[in-house]
Amino acid sequence: MSTHLPSPGNRTVLRVGPLKPSLERTLGEKYAALVLPEESAERDAFLASHGRDVVAAVTSGRTGADEPLIAALPNLGAIVNFGVGYDTTDVAAAAARGIGVSNTPDVLTDCVADTAVGLMIDVMRGFSAADRYVRAGRWPVTGDMRLTHQVSNRHVGVIGLGRIGEAIAKRLNAFGCTISYHNRNRKPASPYAYVDSPVALARDVDVLVVAAAGGRGTRQLVDADVIAALGPSGYLINIARGSVVDEAALIDALANGRLAGAGLDVFTDEPNVPEALLTMDNVVLLPHVGSATVETRAAMEELTLRNLDAYLETGRLVTPVPMPPAASS
Ligand code: 8YV
Repeated sequence: MSTHLPSPGNRTVLRVGPLKPSLERTLGEKYAALVLPEESAERDAFLASHGRDVVAAVTSGRTGADEPLIAALPNLGAIVNFGVGYDTTDVAAAAARGIGVSNTPDVLTDCVADTAVGLMIDVMRGFSAADRYVRAGRWPVTGDMRLTHQVSNRHVGVIGLGRIGEAIAKRLNAFGCTISYHNRNRKPASPYAYVDSPVALARDVDVLVVAAAGGRGTRQLVDADVIAALGPSGYLINIARGSVVDEAALIDALANGRLAGAGLDVFTDEPNVPEALLTMDNVVLLPHVGSATVETRAAMEELTLRNLDAYLETGRLVTPVPMPPAASS
């Protein structure tokens, strides 16, 4: 989609929130980007004096651009997001002003899918727990560790069969797993069985993998009923957003033997992980590292800068996100 072309001579870029250090450096050195202060009084003063200059904002899923920030930038034409998820940016507010939003799809699909499968193998086979067992010196004292559970040939449900969900399904297919999915829209060309609700999907499967986009539409899609349907021998994997899962219900089920285990890369209030999870041996907890490899983060950085350059030069983004229908042209 086309966005406003920045007025000639005005290429003022604003960095919103922390980014990959090399990207921060490039934004500073090559684009002389302004940096939005984090502290609110300082931020207000900054926006009052520089808000009118800014034509492009660069941010990430961690911070995003909310409605008040967008309102304080009257000449903003593009929000360039480092990351595929952009639930922290108010896309409706951007669309209402004709502001384009871009993300970094595709380049991180493989690493995030690898992470999902890694978490599934780890939690079901108890590898992190086994590593703790060895390091604690328990093997020679207590003897063999508890038996764990097979990964291959299981029935796996994927919530959100987008690019990342598809890549997870492809990998698990090679493990002999049967795949079913639930999605906003059924995918007629998909070889996998569609199930019309998360509860029905959870009831059928051994493992539920959450790969849906975050945001209002998917908030607590995996609720207490879905977790109950997954049941005491079920596993939950979440590489999407913490907001998609009712974290309190998840903890309650794990603590009371109503769910076998969980592999989590994302949480409701990152970087804070609920205390209760830290002492459980049947969960694997990662600090939101799904895309965090040297190769993928370099590709994300490159695509972020390509979007920024394209906007500054042509008024168009390379990988724009879909805008709400009423506002798209
Ligand atoms: C990044 C992610 O960690 O792309 C996403 O949506 O969650 C991750 O790849 C994140 O965007 C960096 O802020």
